[in-house]
This record gives sequence, structure tokens and C-alpha cells, in this order.
Amino acid sequence: MTDTLTMTRPDDWHLHLRDGDMLRAVAPETARDFGRAIIMPNLVPPVVTGAQAGAYRDRILASLPQDTKFQPLMTLYLTETTNPADVVAAHRDGLVSAVKLYPAGATTNSDSGVRDTANVMPVLEAMADAGVPLCIHGEVTDAPVDIFDREAVFIKTVLDPLRQRIPELRVISEHITTQEGVDYVMSAPENLAATITTHHLIINRNHILVGGIKPHYYCLPVAKREHHRLALRQAATSGDPRFFLGTDSAPHTDQNKLSSCGCAGVFSATNTMSCLAHVFEEENALDKLESFAALNGPAYYGLEPNPDRITLQKQPKPVSFPAQIPTHDGPVTVFDPGFDLYWSVVSNR
Ligand code: NCD
Ligand code: ZN
Repeated sequence: MTDTLTMTRPDDWHLHLRDGDMLRAVAPETARDFGRAIIMPNLVPPVVTGAQAGAYRDRILASLPQDTKFQPLMTLYLTETTNPADVVAAHRDGLVSAVKLYPAGATTNSDSGVRDTANVMPVLEAMADAGVPLCIHGEVTDAPVDIFDREAVFIKTVLDPLRQRIPELRVISEHITTQEGVDYVMSAPENLAATITTHHLIINRNHILVGGIKPHYYCLPVAKREHHRLALRQAATSGDPRFFLGTDSAPHTDQNKLSSCGCAGVFSATNTMSCLAHVFEEENALDKLESFAALNGPAYYGLEPNPDRITLQKQPKPVSFPAQIPTHDGPVTVFDPGFDLYWSVVSNR
């Protein structure tokens, strides 16, 4: 039985760090195990210019120990007034690694997002020419569309037409949650990859709703039926280079989660590598964890893998993680996979 796994240091290709006190509380949770992360721009107000991305990057680095090797990879929040030349310049100058498209109203802090992709075509065309990747939150927001169908409908009505129109655009379909999401990526000839979160490999919609509502499992896109979870596990553990880790770790205080209108987001930064080792071992695919968490992402973004390594070890007894991360505004609950974890990262420097 394998009980030690040494692999290239992983990266997180979709992460929310927030700002201020929350940033200072949660950033070390990611920097401990991860080399880099794609940082989501959905602050209030959102990160829309290269200068704002640079300033946010400095605040992230200032929230970590001075000798940290962690590198935040910044993104710009695409709005209907984004200037194509600004985006291309921010990418050329190394200030941003990608641009993020949120359909307006799809999720937390997405009010300034895109109402109609026709209105951002000039930006997307300029991005395709300059090789700037586009990260997409793939859910429609039309009121009549059922929340469990919003990803599949987005693929048909927005993502596929967009990719037909600009096939050269490098797209990342983020946090896919459905069989349709997996199939669409597999069917694309090129320029399409997808991130998968830790929690969507572990929970389905029953975990949220059966036996009492579990607000800490509520995130967007919402977890779907079991067969979708199984499709995600198959894709993540297949080694296929088009699938890689984006935790979507999204901290909200318990006060904001445990409310009559609770926020969407699962905070998994603290125990993600343990959870993933557990899942990959269950799928007899521990040898594919490195591809999923450390190799496929940088390859798609045109970057080298991290130069250093981490070691995970399977412990004889369950390992414990803090149930909550304290912050100035209140505690943030850490993702509870619902089973004991035995894998722990024993060396991460
Ligand atoms: C994210 C957040 O809280 O910022 N929430 C979530 O449920 N994933 C926003 C997002 O990525 O959708
Ligand atoms: Zn997110």
C-alpha cells in the first residue's frame, strides 16, 4: 500500500482571497501548500484595471510572511465597459494572467458582470489575438432557468456559440459541476480546459439538503446529482490535461453563511490536499494527483510547473484540521468532507 506521495508543489487555478482582515486570515491557508493561485477579482468594487490588480497583488503579498514563495496570479473582472487595449496591456506587462467573465448576477459580487456577451466581443477578440486566457463562470442567470440546469444551459446557449465565434480564444470553463460540462470539454478540439473544485468531487446535492439544510455545502455553481459528481471524479482522476484543480475556496463568515439568506461559497483551502489525496486514493488514481493539481494547470496557462515539491503521508489515525479559521469579522468554517482524513502534507517547503 502506498502511504507516501511526493509530488510537484500544486497550484490553485481558482481562488477567492478577499481583502483586508479576511485576506490576512485566509491567505496563509493557501500559501502553506500551494505555489501559485489564480486570484478571483470579485472584490467590492471589482478589480477592473491593471493598476488595481497590481495593488491587490501587493496587498496579498503583504498579508504573507516576507520570505513566502507563493505567487498570486491576478485576474481582471470583465465588464461591458472594459477597454480591449487596457486588458492586452495589463497582460503584456505581466500584471494579470487572465480575465474573468461573470454573467451579471450569477454569484457573489457579480453585479458588474456581463449581461450580453455580444457587448464584450471586441475585448474577447483582442484577448484571442494577444493570447490572454478567459476564465468563465458558466451559469445563465435567466430567472426561469432552474438553478440545477444553469450550467448545462449556459454551455448550449452561451459558451458554445462564443467558442464557435472565436475559436482561437483560450477558455477555462471554471468549477464545472456536470456531466455536460465534462463532455463539452472532451468534445472541444482545442482551446478549452476546465477546473474542478475539491468539494464537487465529494458532495452532491443530497449532502446539502437531506436530513436538514447544510449551509456550509452551499456554493455556486450548486452541487448537482450523484451521476454528475461521478463524472467529475472520472475526469479529475483521468490524467486528461484539460482538467485541473481550481478549489474555488471562497471564505464567508459563519454569520453570513448561517443566515436566512446565506452566502454561496465553500472554504476548502485548509484541507484541500488531504481531501484530494483521499478522493484520488479511492479512485485508485493517486498517481494522477500530480497531473490534476500540479502539472495540467501550468501547462494550459503556458507556465512551468513549480520547481519544488511537497510530500503527503497517510497517517495511521485520522488527521485533524481546525474546524474554523478565526477572522476579525468572525469565524470562517473549513470544509468538512464528512469522513475522516488520513493524508496529511508533511513537508511543504
Ligand atoms: C464565490 C464567492 O463567494 O466569491 N462563491 C461561490 O459559491 N463559489 C463566487 C463564485 O466563484 O461563484
Ligand atoms: Zn469562485
